[in-house]
Amino acid sequence: MRRHPITTAEPRTGELLSERYRTVREETASLAERLTVEDQVVQPCEEASPTKWHLGHTTWFFERFVLRARLANYAPIDDRYDRIFNSYYQTVGPMHPRRDRGTLSRPTVEQIHDYRSCIDDALLRLLASRDDDAELLGLVELGLNHEEQHQELLLTDAKQVLFANALEVAYLATAVAPRSSGSVPLEFRFEPAGFTEVGADSTGFAFDNERPRHREWLEAHSLANRLVTNGEYREFIRDGGYATPQLWLADGWTIVQKRGWNRPLCWSQDLDREYTLGGWRALDYHAPVCHVSFYEAAAFAAWTGTRLPTEQEWENAAQAATPVEGNLRSTGWLHPAPAPAASRQSHMLQVWGDVWEWCASAYRPYPRFRPLKGSLGEYNGKFMCNQWVARGGSCVTPPGHVRSSYRNFFYPQDRWQFLGIRLAKDL
Ligand SMILES: [Fe+2]
Repeated sequence: MRRHPITTAEPRTGELLSERYRTVREETASLAERLTVEDQVVQPCEEASPTKWHLGHTTWFFERFVLRARLANYAPIDDRYDRIFNSYYQTVGPMHPRRDRGTLSRPTVEQIHDYRSCIDDALLRLLASRDDDAELLGLVELGLNHEEQHQELLLTDAKQVLFANALEVAYLATAVAPRSSGSVPLEFRFEPAGFTEVGADSTGFAFDNERPRHREWLEAHSLANRLVTNGEYREFIRDGGYATPQLWLADGWTIVQKRGWNRPLCWSQDLDREYTLGGWRALDYHAPVCHVSFYEAAAFAAWTGTRLPTEQEWENAAQAATPVEGNLRSTGWLHPAPAPAASRQSHMLQVWGDVWEWCASAYRPYPRFRPLKGSLGEYNGKFMCNQWVARGGSCVTPPGHVRSSYRNFFYPQDRWQFLGIRLAKDL
């Protein structure tokens, strides 16, 4: 069977990649540093892993899939870490259950930092000795993209840890998204029917789920110029959105009943405040709504008489929305921000960053999709069932990490991520 090779974003030498390796690894450690040791051990829900687990798992990824795979006589630092830090690689062996990661008091945070240092030394030595080994460079690039994904998860999960705490602490009190006195008027941008090309081509780094690039037919449609705001979502609530079964998919309605959902995750009961990584703040009506499930996004769209975009419609529009700039982690706001009032309304706004945008597309393989070879084939392909695609990155996505072909995916009931809504219409 033909497999896709791992390719790097641009031809990198070992030296350049070593530099990127140091930067990415230091960034992960510095994101964790803002938390106390106690914060780093807690797991508030199954989806949100403890910070220290992210620190260990990303390190294990390099040890297991780079050092052990590429060095014949490599002796693992501690082979029990295979069980502790394996996330979901069945071909590697048994693993500690995901929902119980918060029960692991050992290894300690300090021991995990020592583990990181050991692996960093070994990895950088390997890169220095084989800096023309394209397959090695490709594996390291994958490991770094994987680590960037976990940097995002570290912040997302830390938010849930602190949100669950009645002491009302912030991750970073100085993280404040700008506020706005008004919303950009909601407009729909027309797109005629036609073929489009989506997916990553064979150059540059991309995950296997983004390939191969292929044609898709789009019917005429239009996409909202901006994201749905807190104010608009609040109107949906006030209008009885959570009490109107006709608006909901059957599974969504069941969950609303079972879990008692009546507002987005992280909103106060009075709908006036929301929890942010900067702490509790007054709800900004002009900022994008976030922490909503696919079910809530679909119900909101039904309430407005519209629908969610397909991932192909989204990507087609996003290909024109370059460069990839927006409210990513690099703004330091760590929270979605209102669309700039002076923006040209004919353009799609808030494409990059702010919130991952739910798409009306099941997470499925593209035509002629081939997973990576070996254990890394478990990275994406096996999750292509019962999940939905989300696009565009969020306010905690590392800069340089997303692109128009980037496919994130979540279960329809997931709300802990920075997930929001862009509307679309049939014509
Ligand atoms: Fe992972």
